[in-house]
Amino acid sequence: MKVESVSIFQWWFRVAVQLSLILLGACYRSVSTSPPPVKLNTENPHQVVIDNGIISLNLSNPEGDIIGIYNGIKNVLEAKNKEDDRGYLDVVWNEPGKHGMFQRIRGTDFSVIAANENIVEISFLRTWTASMKGSSVPMNIDKRYILRRGDYGFYSYAIFNRPSGLPAVEIDQIRIVFKLDETRFHYMAISDTRQRNMPSVRDRASGQPLAYPEAVLLTNSSEQQFKGEVDDKYQYSSENKDNTVHGWITQDGLAPVGFWLITPSNEFRHAGPVKQDLTSHVGPTTLSMFVSTHYAGKEVTMAFGEGETYKKVFGPVFVYLNSVPNKSQFRSLWSDAVEQLSNEVRRWPYDFVGSKDFLPPNQRGTVTGRLLVQDGGKRDQPANNAYVGLALPGDTGSWQKESKGYQFWIQADKAGHFLIKNIVPGDYNLYAWVPGFIGDYRYKTKITIERGGNINLNSLVYNPPRNGPTLWEIGIPDRSAAEFYMPDPNPKLVNRLFQNDKQDKFRQYGLWERYTELYPNHDLVYTVGVSDYHNDWFYAQVTRSTPEKSYMPTTWQIQFQLKNIIMPGNYTFQVALASTTNARLEVRFNDLNAKLPHFSTGLKGDDNAIARHGIHGLYRLHTIAVGSNHLVNGKNTIYLTQSKGISPFMGVMYDYVRLESPPIKST
Ligand SMILES: *[C@@H]1O[C@H](CO)[C@@H](O)[C@H](O)[C@H]1NC(C)=O
Ligand SMILES: *[C@@H]1O[C@H](CO)[C@@H](O)[C@H](O)[C@H]1NC(C)=O
Ligand SMILES: *[C@@H]1O[C@H](CO)[C@@H](O)[C@H](O)[C@H]1NC(C)=O
Repeated sequence: MKVESVSIFQWWFRVAVQLSLILLGACYRSVSTSPPPVKLNTENPHQVVIDNGIISLNLSNPEGDIIGIYNGIKNVLEAKNKEDDRGYLDVVWNEPGKHGMFQRIRGTDFSVIAANENIVEISFLRTWTASMKGSSVPMNIDKRYILRRGDYGFYSYAIFNRPSGLPAVEIDQIRIVFKLDETRFHYMAISDTRQRNMPSVRDRASGQPLAYPEAVLLTNSSEQQFKGEVDDKYQYSSENKDNTVHGWITQDGLAPVGFWLITPSNEFRHAGPVKQDLTSHVGPTTLSMFVSTHYAGKEVTMAFGEGETYKKVFGPVFVYLNSVPNKSQFRSLWSDAVEQLSNEVRRWPYDFVGSKDFLPPNQRGTVTGRLLVQDGGKRDQPANNAYVGLALPGDTGSWQKESKGYQFWIQADKAGHFLIKNIVPGDYNLYAWVPGFIGDYRYKTKITIERGGNINLNSLVYNPPRNGPTLWEIGIPDRSAAEFYMPDPNPKLVNRLFQNDKQDKFRQYGLWERYTELYPNHDLVYTVGVSDYHNDWFYAQVTRSTPEKSYMPTTWQIQFQLKNIIMPGNYTFQVALASTTNARLEVRFNDLNAKLPHFSTGLKGDDNAIARHGIHGLYRLHTIAVGSNHLVNGKNTIYLTQSKGISPFMGVMYDYVRLESPPIKST
């Protein structure tokens, strides 16, 4: 049976719905006529159809792959693709010490969780059995879909469950993928500024791959507008906190249609609010990323020991479809999707989810308080816009690598007040960091959230690392390298979308190559009091390429004057790194030839933010003590050597560096 075939009745029904949408336009929603009931159809043993008269969803039975999504006559998914290659959930995993495997999760048991005129929820469960060892991720996975009466979209979520007795596993990625109709969806939108017509898969296939396969120079696009541009899906990444709505618009057919992936909460995503991940990209593809090692590396893998039990709900996310009657209004589909996001956020946590593992609002708790900062001997000040969150108990700063539990983050107000709502009961630590200050805060007492519980922590005080007064500093302590010098891209390797937007300049391809062009003969030298970090501090300490196409370590210098040196005394060099990729940063004071560096980070990091056009990866703070015998009155030089060569993508991004004089002795 052809998947695409629909009964004459269904066809007429959809035509009627589409026509009524077009005729009534935006009024449709405000008119209080009751929308049709939701229907579940399982007549075809290999397919399940759920339909609310606005949206119709076809799923393979019992695999639970999304075969078709209709809000009109045509499938919005790519019907040329196989049934398991249109809308699916996949996992990248490995047994410890073995190679990673990519697996699409195919259900084996279909069941109906709810089916009445107001809501249909269906489940496609894949239960792990010992015969699957080595070939299938050791986790029971339940894929759920919800369609409600009157909704312009459907909800999707997944329950991951490890009962006792399962083998060890590391999970590097969990996501839901949607592949849209290639012939119709050309316009992609991720934010108010990141939106435009996109090249096609064919444009990429006929282009020239660059330093890695994801980056392609479009040498032979059928459309003039894309010729000579670079396309790379990593240019469309977002931080979790901003990865809330993205998708595609088709302007073909009777009326423009938008397809949007809406993520109303980050609680189920891992590694905190500034973890970056993919959104939508050429395909046309839209992703819902739950877990990945992107911009973080294997340090954020979900690692389970043998027999370790686990349960977590990923989602729900909302797949929203909208339309407007007139092509000239197609851009309004984006603003309508943004409005829909705020509707979903307002309704979060949903009270209609069938799984008892997804807790409704009345079973969750809150934490309130106020965070103050006391930096050095100064008076307390409000932790203005601090990021405050709950994550599984761990060390200070551990949330950025924490991948198993739920996380609940907000930004405090100007006065440092925070209110974290809708927390799933359980044990947590409260973590925070404050833009403008180095380091990480952790409230030392474990916090236990109970059903309906409300915890008030009152005033908390964060003492950022500091051993003495600041002598000088470079950059802004905010866990990003965005304030440093961002070169113009090679004119032959641009993405024109980012050309007029200074904020997004770091997303251009190949900026790392500009270092060797800017510093052909000698490495960067920064003179405190003379240099300006906006212009004179390259955004990343990358390797230097040689004409023979090999890559050399680099040594940057910070030169500064010191007067009235305190002898004896311990100075402190604070080095906050925003990203580290296969790098070893060595620090020497005034003696480049010292065989042993004064300090070395050791070989660290795999966040790959240089290659992936991130402006940060994982945050690392190094507090380095330097005795005054290593410093002199007058001119001093700190040598920063990134001692690993080999690849253009090895290196570090600095967030901020500071030299502190010895502690002031209180008498
Ligand atoms: C370039 O594009 C043209 C027209 O689309 C096509 O016929 C040709 O095969 C393409 N060349 C390459 C090298 O892909
Ligand atoms: C669509 O919008 C354009 C521009 O606003 C207008 O000129 C045109 O008449 C509209 N078409 C229809 C069918 O309403
Ligand atoms: C400097 O630090 C070292 C190591 O912590 C310590 O032994 C020494 O007493 C300190 N010197 C001064 C002058 O504080």
